[in-house]
Amino acid sequence: MTMPGAHGHRDPAIAGFLDVLETAVMADAPPASDARRAAARVFDRCRHSAGKSVAVDPAWPPVCDVLPMALALDRPPARRRVAEAFGALAPRLGWKPRASAAGADGRFPESHANATVIGPGGLEDRQDLHIGVSLMAPDLTYPDHDHPPEEVYLALTPGEWWNARMDWTDPGPHGLIYNPPGIRHAMRSGATPLLAVWLLPG
Ligand SMILES: [Fe+2]
Repeated sequence: MTMPGAHGHRDPAIAGFLDVLETAVMADAPPASDARRAAARVFDRCRHSAGKSVAVDPAWPPVCDVLPMALALDRPPARRRVAEAFGALAPRLGWKPRASAAGADGRFPESHANATVIGPGGLEDRQDLHIGVSLMAPDLTYPDHDHPPEEVYLALTPGEWWNARMDWTDPGPHGLIYNPPGIRHAMRSGATPLLAVWLLPG
């Protein structure tokens, strides 16, 4: 399904991750939904071309020690395959906290990390899309933020999402979250770590 692109050959571990991610997202995205349309744009761009493979300096801040616990949680088979493929990539990523912790709880900076798999600064560097992950320790709220591109989240653990048009919602093991362009949004973990993949066209 995932083919090497015109601008380079895709790293096999990234290709494998992308393949199982597309299967999992498309299996659970309702027909004709915004989530499906936005995710399809991201996957179509990936199919059309591959970005440049980059040897990112791996970074493993202390919060990453909760990753094995997050990956070990129970989930449906399609998402289990995403978690497994992601687990193999995780040590290669440049995990880092978000640039601004404005409005966040005092332990936020040390208690979460983000990493880009495909996109600016990712293992596959390109400017036209982002595919990355967020990891949060238990009982933590990610501060409200917004960005111009729309966004789809695939949750790999329990967790709750909020946006300016939606009350706090746990999407459940088969749910997806869609954030329209520019909307204020946030997420929070409960008793377990939160691990989620995000996809943004643009
Ligand atoms: Fe976001």
